[in-house]
Amino acid sequence: SWTMLNIVEDAVEAVRAQIGPDGRAICALSGGVDSAVAAAIVQRAIGDRLTCVFVDHGLLRKGEAEQVERDFVAATGVKLRVVDAADRFLAALDGVTDPEEKRKIIGREFIRVFEDEQRSIMADRPVGFLVQGTLYPDVVESGGGTGTANIKSHHNVGGLPDDLRFELVEPLRTLFKDEVRRAGEELGLPPAMVWRQPFPGPGLAIRIVGAVTRERLDILREADAIAREELTRAGLDREIWQCPVVLLADVRSVGVQGDGRTYGHPIVLRPVTSEDAMTADWARVPYEVLSRISTRITNEVPQINRVVLDVTSKPPGTIEWE
Ligand code: XMP
Repeated sequence: SWTMLNIVEDAVEAVRAQIGPDGRAICALSGGVDSAVAAAIVQRAIGDRLTCVFVDHGLLRKGEAEQVERDFVAATGVKLRVVDAADRFLAALDGVTDPEEKRKIIGREFIRVFEDEQRSIMADRPVGFLVQGTLYPDVVESGGGTGTANIKSHHNVGGLPDDLRFELVEPLRTLFKDEVRRAGEELGLPPAMVWRQPFPGPGLAIRIVGAVTRERLDILREADAIAREELTRAGLDREIWQCPVVLLADVRSVGVQGDGRTYGHPIVLRPVTSEDAMTADWARVPYEVLSRISTRITNEVPQINRVVLDVTSKPPGTIEWE
């Protein structure tokens, strides 16, 4: 729209003025809409003086890494460095089952990988600016302060060491989520990215109840992709706030398929409606849609022999299982 076009153009101008004619910036992409729109605005302002870094922790859903590496780059022309850090994250998570411990490890590894990448970019040429997709509600929540960098938006973790201090560039500071999405459309970003439902920074690691392994991630990724595909096909994406798909990796139950007995894992569907994730209700997804999801998952994912539906509101349940 005309006003959104103006908002985007103003944001681009403001970034250009802040960074100046020679300044350089870096931005961490998470696969989410906020960092993507922030990066696209800065790219428009300073071109390839912006370097984006995508730390692929191996915990994203099916197709999401490609969305960043291929579709986002094609749409924006952003200069992107991809770090395939899946092995490192899996090694750090080896045997860990406690949810908060998983979060801590993922946050810590993310910072380490990102800082290594920053140093390597800095070794080439100095970089003075760090782009963050901070939204207006985040600004209000944190008391309106600005200043030194912390990578809050991605993994909720603390400050940076002294040699990696940057001036923050926050082109979304005055915008609400729906405005960010419209800005994303205006900038021509991939619709799947612009309209992505909330997805936690620690990714699928906190949707495996039990230890995280590559095999378990693959099982969950397949089941999640089927659930998302069917919910989208049924036109429910706007109604449903988000739908975690959870693998109960340490639970097995007996089933029967063809001539044989199976001993597989259950998958939990957790579709919720919500305004702000503070409270939520379980979404009344039509039975036919649930039935299709269940049939497809049990047919197409051999390790899953049972699909169960979570009918708990928040409170007392949280949206995620971990
Ligand atoms: P809960 O499970 O607390 O989730 O009801 C509320 C919202 O927050 C998301 N969530 C997270 N997001 N890092 C994130 O970036 C996290 O560790 C995390 N844990 C939960 C969740 O998906 C929901 O939208």
